[in-house]
Amino acid sequence: MTTTSALLATYPLHEGAGTPVLLLHGFPLDHRMWAAAAQALPEGVRAIGVDLPGQGHSDLGGIPPRLEDVADAVHRTMRAQGEGNAVVVGLSMGGYVALALAERHPGFVVGLGLVDTKSTADLDAARANRLRIADLVTEGQTLDPVLSMPGALLGTTSAEQRRNLFPLLESWIRAQSPSGVAWAQRAMAARPDRTPVLETFDGPVAVVVGAEDQVTPLVEAEHMVHAARDGALTVVPAAGHMSAVEDPATVAAAIGLLHRRVAERTNPPRWPW
Ligand code: MLT
Repeated sequence: MTTTSALLATYPLHEGAGTPVLLLHGFPLDHRMWAAAAQALPEGVRAIGVDLPGQGHSDLGGIPPRLEDVADAVHRTMRAQGEGNAVVVGLSMGGYVALALAERHPGFVVGLGLVDTKSTADLDAARANRLRIADLVTEGQTLDPVLSMPGALLGTTSAEQRRNLFPLLESWIRAQSPSGVAWAQRAMAARPDRTPVLETFDGPVAVVVGAEDQVTPLVEAEHMVHAARDGALTVVPAAGHMSAVEDPATVAAAIGLLHRRVAERTNPPRWPW
């Protein structure tokens, strides 16, 4: 792990060479939610995890609650490590950050993976609910308002067949701080509709959604694929909003394919004549 007050904590999650896959986690979690999917990536694909500001081992470091500033912090951290570009993959909140990165640092993002996320902004009621939760968490210095989230994040199949994921997710949530949770809710509430980013993004886009995702359902995934210039959709059967945790192998295969699409643009395959 690497961390300073100005930079975010990063983690090598899969060994390999060349352009890395940068994995951005969902809320209210940290890089650990990507560990199983990273391990299932094709051989040689390098993957780096990061803890977003105020989550896991990353400090808030005075960063305002805006995803634009989160994207800048991720970019600054990668550049400090000598990474000139990446295939950026984000799940849910991580996807919101990935879109902000593509908007603000288009030269850095050579491929975009949007997993169980959406490009649209919050409706007014959802935004108000986020701010309400942020206030509750701050005033009570408690994680109670988010401890029941695994029930909404995991799909119905996981509720029946992968019961072990419930205590696992809860343990990851319990490791977060009330200040980080409140900060992330405020940052997500402030985000605009970033569908136009997909309309202009030049690289390959992979959209992945759990068939049982109730938080950012299939209709949101289809909206992103249609907006993208070069988009591909993977629907993960029997998985909910945490598809990367519920079915890491299927999500890893979709990311591996995205990485290959990026590589083929740089080095197109040659016919053997
Ligand atoms: C997440 O999984 O990151 C959250 O569900 C995102 C959100 O609250 O919009």
